[in-house]
Amino acid sequence: MNKKTVDDIQVKGKKVLVRCDFNVPIQDGVITDETRIVGALPTIKKLVDEGAKVILCSHMGKPKGEAVPSLSLAPVAKKLSEHLGKEVVFAADANVVGENAKAAVAAMNEGDVVLLENTRYRAEETKNVDTFSEELASLAEIFVNDAFGTAHRAHCSNVGVTKYIKDAVGGYLINKEIEYLGNAVNNPVRPLVAILGGSKVSSKISVINNLLEKVDKLIIGGGMAYTFMKANGLSVGNSLLEEDYIDYAKEMMAKAEEKGVKLYVPVDTVAAQEFNNDAETKVFENGIEDGWEGLDIGPKTTEIFKDALKDAKTVVWNGPMGVFEMPNFAKGTNAIAYALADLDATTIIGGGDSVAAVNQAGLGDKMSHISTGGGASLEFLEGKDLPGIVALNDK
Ligand code: 3PG
Repeated sequence: MNKKTVDDIQVKGKKVLVRCDFNVPIQDGVITDETRIVGALPTIKKLVDEGAKVILCSHMGKPKGEAVPSLSLAPVAKKLSEHLGKEVVFAADANVVGENAKAAVAAMNEGDVVLLENTRYRAEETKNVDTFSEELASLAEIFVNDAFGTAHRAHCSNVGVTKYIKDAVGGYLINKEIEYLGNAVNNPVRPLVAILGGSKVSSKISVINNLLEKVDKLIIGGGMAYTFMKANGLSVGNSLLEEDYIDYAKEMMAKAEEKGVKLYVPVDTVAAQEFNNDAETKVFENGIEDGWEGLDIGPKTTEIFKDALKDAKTVVWNGPMGVFEMPNFAKGTNAIAYALADLDATTIIGGGDSVAAVNQAGLGDKMSHISTGGGASLEFLEGKDLPGIVALNDK
């Protein structure tokens, strides 16, 4: 990363505002996936060990400027305290930077950690309004952004704040994400294979287009594959289909050919007549009958995709191969996860559902890197600049 990092600054005795992405799933007050919290620990620990006064902030969900109690960061403060083995003071404050937060910061000693309330309790946050950026900035002397998952947003707490704090650097998590994703896309050990899945072609248009410039092979599965199958002249029954993107799919197939990229789309499909795990299934080749909906890649496709991955040295995966939330339609996705786990290659799981799928298969620790960014990693793969990173000081 050509941006300054926490290793480039002196923090002893300084107040450091750290933007994390603590937007974690919570059910009945219990955090169900701690990946983003664990991902933020190296930066926090380093700042604590070096005697900074560490002021953490993050958004949670979309409270739209209201102090929605179910979206409070209080459970995150508790979880962080457990991980750090020291108290993380939670500055409960509907105003985020109100009297409570200011008092908590004023009482800090070196090595202390305070967590502010959900930045999106303030309506200005997502509009990047200067007044709130200035309020946040007034708490600290240094700004560290370690919220990769939010790097594609230009909000007060990750971008606006850098207008008012001169020293704005990246944390270890942001650095690691950019290193893995950046190397994979711009400087990969080849062959580079990208696997794209998920439901819609429309949500991955720019990713497909950009990756065709970079990869040696592109594998397409999941719901978006049916639009490609239709573009190949096959019937897709009741499967997900984006009629408006059939021409785009044709264009991408032509582009792949022109670039010498091997493009793989499913040759068979596991389909059902109901969207139900226990529904009767049928495998279709050369098109799907009316009344049947494709819900997973078929066994032949699975073998072809696994074979295509065999010589890969770098793999980027974004999006499941089927409806992996239902065990009977998770076979294709799981087979890909196991194939990646066995490879002698750099394997990068690019956020969102594919992360959930890999974790569901218990293979998270077999991957080289699991991104903490859903939308952010997708925009990175599209080749876009991420505002949260652009705003940091250059090296
Ligand atoms: C995410 O979960 O992708 C990030 O935390 C960003 O959240 P947002 O889509 O609500 O901005």
